[in-house]
Amino acid sequence: MSEHERDLVSPEADLDERAVEGALRPKSLDEFVGQERVREQLSLVLRSAQRRGKAPDHILMSGGPGLGKTTLAMIIAAELGSSLRITSGPAIERSGDLAAVLSTLHEGEVLFLDEIHRMARPAEEMLYVAMEDFRVDVVVGKGPGATAIPLDIAPFTLVGATTRAGMLPAPLRDRFGFVAHMDFYRPDELELILRRSAGLLGADLAPDAAVEIAGRSRGTPRIANRLLRRVRDYAEVRGDGRLTLETARAALSLYEVDDEGLDRLDRAVLTALLRRFRGGPVGLSTLAVSVGEEPETVEVVAEPFLVRSGFIARTPRGRVATAEAWAHMGLTPPPDAAFGAGALFGAAEEP
Ligand SMILES: Nc1ncnc2c1ncn2[C@@H]1O[C@H](COP(=O)(O)OP(=O)(O)OP(=O)(O)O)[C@@H](O)[C@H]1O
Ligand SMILES: [Mg+2]
Repeated sequence: MSEHERDLVSPEADLDERAVEGALRPKSLDEFVGQERVREQLSLVLRSAQRRGKAPDHILMSGGPGLGKTTLAMIIAAELGSSLRITSGPAIERSGDLAAVLSTLHEGEVLFLDEIHRMARPAEEMLYVAMEDFRVDVVVGKGPGATAIPLDIAPFTLVGATTRAGMLPAPLRDRFGFVAHMDFYRPDELELILRRSAGLLGADLAPDAAVEIAGRSRGTPRIANRLLRRVRDYAEVRGDGRLTLETARAALSLYEVDDEGLDRLDRAVLTALLRRFRGGPVGLSTLAVSVGEEPETVEVVAEPFLVRSGFIARTPRGRVATAEAWAHMGLTPPPDAAFGAGALFGAAEEP
């Protein structure tokens, strides 16, 4: 399977796609679809800070790729009427890198630290102090003669984003006044996002086509927008440019994204599990070999969504297909099939 095919339902984006995405980002909290609780809480945090005339508490956003963390960071700065400085965990290799950013912040600025869990450890200490006391200690000299010179920095708001909240050290997590947990989106929310995006792209999207695409988008706005672009391409080349239900179905079947959002790799994994291993349990590496993939590819790329959508269960004895998997693939389970749902009860996950 080529990388390109896999890209279609991957929640991650490459550089080209990130450029395209910029045009589709909502610019205000009102335009931001879904995540009602987060939106409401955030709106309160921002309004009250503005009334007090102070920079709001530091904000941490946690959630999977493509769910709107970067979008929300930009909205926070826009709602506050302040500018946004952007950096990321991997860009901060030494504490000096962080000091350079912090010491040039202006009062009230929003500092967006993407992938904050990947920041270098020595920089974390410096970030704690900066978050709490708006101060950095710049170390001058080396060895026993080194001295730390405290330097005041402008009060700012840190907005951290992470796909792995569990990897953040507790002292760092505790210094955020507000943690926004981003969930997967409901189909009706994705539908709204699609209609909005279609408007911005100048695409004529029929309501039932929006429903169709939303249902195949894996709860992820990034994937919804990507499928929309592919359906639009198809409609322009093969049809009259209108995105109808028929066009959407034809395009998505050409791209091999099924009505649950499963792509070819997902379906190959399910088919092997059902047909060759009678629904399991089977070890991940055995399963991977049978579809000609690396175990890691199956584990990282295909399995999370298959588990989340209830097609595969992880049990201590291996991967097991659920009754939904048999039904979705149109196959009849053998009478002695072990079902994931049953096998799940009281069972610890396989590590
Ligand atoms: N709530 C939303 N309403 C409308 N569009 C959204 C929403 N959330 C995300 N999007 C769209 O989805 C795309 C991806 O969003 P974004 O870049 O903010 O995700 P992310 O969580 O930062 O992902 P990553 O973890 O990969 O950095 C953007 O084009 C954005 O416009
Ligand atoms: Mg992002």
